[in-house]
Amino acid sequence: MSTAPKSMEKLVEELRAARAHLEEGGGHARLEKQKSEGKLTARERVKTLVDEGSFEEIGLFARHRQTEFGMLGKEVPADGVVTGAASIDGRLVHLASQDFSVLGGSAGEVHSLKVAEVMEMSLHTGSPFVFINDSGGARVQEGIDSLSGYGKVFFTNVSLSGAVPQISLICGPCAGGAAYSPALTDFIIMTRKAQMFITGPQVIKQVTGEQITAEALGGADSHMGNSGVVHFVAEDDKDALYLCRRLLSFLPSNNLEDAPRLKAPNNVDPNPELNSIVPVEPKQAYDVRRVIAGIVDQGDFLEVQAGYAMNMVVGFARILGRSVGIVANQPQAMSGAIDINAATKGSRFIRFCNAFNIPLITFVDVPGFLPGVQQEYGGIIRHGAKLLFAYSATTVPKIQVILRKSYGGAHLAMGSKDLGADRVFAWPTAEVAVMGAEGAVEIVFRKEVDKAEDKAAKRAELIQQYKSTFSTPTAAAGRRLVDDIIEPAETRKHLAQALEYLSTKREQRPPKKHGLIPL
Ligand code: HXC
Repeated sequence: MSTAPKSMEKLVEELRAARAHLEEGGGHARLEKQKSEGKLTARERVKTLVDEGSFEEIGLFARHRQTEFGMLGKEVPADGVVTGAASIDGRLVHLASQDFSVLGGSAGEVHSLKVAEVMEMSLHTGSPFVFINDSGGARVQEGIDSLSGYGKVFFTNVSLSGAVPQISLICGPCAGGAAYSPALTDFIIMTRKAQMFITGPQVIKQVTGEQITAEALGGADSHMGNSGVVHFVAEDDKDALYLCRRLLSFLPSNNLEDAPRLKAPNNVDPNPELNSIVPVEPKQAYDVRRVIAGIVDQGDFLEVQAGYAMNMVVGFARILGRSVGIVANQPQAMSGAIDINAATKGSRFIRFCNAFNIPLITFVDVPGFLPGVQQEYGGIIRHGAKLLFAYSATTVPKIQVILRKSYGGAHLAMGSKDLGADRVFAWPTAEVAVMGAEGAVEIVFRKEVDKAEDKAAKRAELIQQYKSTFSTPTAAAGRRLVDDIIEPAETRKHLAQALEYLSTKREQRPPKKHGLIPL
């Protein structure tokens, strides 16, 4: 055998072959199986997500260190996860994409260390982190080493939280403790081909006797409608990757930057349609998303958690190219009353926007907090307080637009002037009141109504009197709860102007470790 060193040509040839082999992950047959299920492979997902030719892989040659349970000498290409840096719309991101073709994408020690390492690069470079999940969870053969690896990922998730945006895509199984990494990130996008749960149907059957399919338990629709765990449901991988790019376009790369401002037409012309969307009769329903669409750039609104707590609408849009976070009561679901789920959904979104310097616009049409034994037992006091806490603690520009009803504690909880709103605009239909006039008359004038000969007429008269005294925008503007009463059609102009003038807002709060939002 020759002892002469190999030629560079030969070395390069071998390197190319080794790379190609590793890039094939679990091999042709497994990749084809994955594709036949209508999924992309781990590498195709990365390629589809990022700008063409921008992906720099880090750690292709990583190898596991295990020797037990048949792992000695076992080849596990890239240790089952593709990691690296790339650009999306020209902006740096770091990402990890689990390869199900390699030991079911299971997370061994090295696998998780690779993920944690690119996460740290996200932090050090101030760039978002995207984690594409498709895995059987902790690699069982590696025992507690894999458990420890996951622990490092969780720890790093928390250290990134609030510093750089973190987005999880769930494109395959995401079971057991593994589901907690996505849960620690800011947004979860889940495909209809994926499932997520802490304990699967079989364990549940053994422990509680309940019978349920994996899909009904942990499918995307269940996590949107029941648990509120996911933020977006995608039809398939391509849709999920598109949603990820779209979501990132609204966000800054880190907490020290503003979101990118898009070049947008400078149009703030009145939109007459807005004068007729909200019925003047306070109990009549309408879709608040029509109001939002009538105000923001190109009517383009990326709704977050569209299928959860539908009485509260949250999402991203732009005004004159500037990203804004929108929070709105939805009168066509539960009359827009705030329940536990709506309060939690709204608060979390508000805190995300605050962490990443995205101004907040709140559209208010709320009859109050939802009454009910289950709500009280469930802790509406504790959960509703989250909204009060979140708005009060927020220092980004906050603009409140009162469309119609704005009653009681819910008025305050929707980002009122007293909770630090920088501008409050009211439409002519606005009614700011401590409670609805009907309820108020019941409490204050019950004896007077009882004494009257025509009780109904007396009640109606007193209701009208209460309304005209308290429930008008001029009453609220007179008391400085409202800064200006505006024509609905001109809302976009007022918001654009306020956002411009508030763009240099700086607000300092007393230094402390952190406040204690009621959890
Ligand atoms: C090692 C695993 C694995 C795992 C799957 N595989 N999960 N290897 N550790 N956790 C391997 C399988 O042995 C198989 O290898 C290949 O991946 C594909 O798996 P299949 O079962 O053939 O695929 P499918 O039928 O699509 O089912 C996918 C699945 C199932 C639903 C994910 O594999 C499954 O239930 N896996 C176990 C899930 C689980 O209980 N995880 C919890 C681990 S403990 P071969 O070579 O046969 O093709 C845990 C605690 C966490 O996560 C703590 C950290 C926080």
